[in-house]
Amino acid sequence: MQELRELLIEELQDILHAENQLVSALPKMAKAAHDPKLKEAFEKHLAQTRGQVERLNTAFELLGEMAEPKPCKAMMGLVKEGEETIEDGKEKDKLIADLALIIAAQKVEHYEIASYGGVRCLARQIGQRDVETLLAHTLGEEESSDYSLTSLAKPLLQRASESDTGNGRKQTKQQPKTLASRG
Ligand SMILES: [Fe+2]
Repeated sequence: MQELRELLIEELQDILHAENQLVSALPKMAKAAHDPKLKEAFEKHLAQTRGQVERLNTAFELLGEMAEPKPCKAMMGLVKEGEETIEDGKEKDKLIADLALIIAAQKVEHYEIASYGGVRCLARQIGQRDVETLLAHTLGEEESSDYSLTSLAKPLLQRASESDTGNGRKQTKQQPKTLASRG
């Protein structure tokens, strides 16, 4: 039980550091996004992330531990890649740059979903019901944020493929239509 508790604390320290990094990174993502809905999604997730940090602080309090972050190397890497995506996007078509931002953001979401899924199970196992509820709440937010990003990508993908008329791609794209109309 004690070892499970220690593992939970360590994982929470890692997530706290990850969320703190995101509080700094998300405004840059929002600024770089061209699509107004994508910009809005990043801004909304920034507000949510601040709430998630608060929830983590409450979880530490409930566990009677100091809310001390432990360097999360994975998130450092993901944030660094996100910064590269923002830089590279300046040279790219706006739609493509936005799609690259969505991919970078979803990599972050998936990391967070894995992390919160893990700590929620640990909290449940050691009977920390209130901590489990807090973590489950955040997990739900991360999952819905991932889902929203997928929805936002769909029209951008469509528009990007429609505007991509170079290299005979338009012709290739029309082909299935012709085939379908034959069927
Ligand atoms: Fe988060």
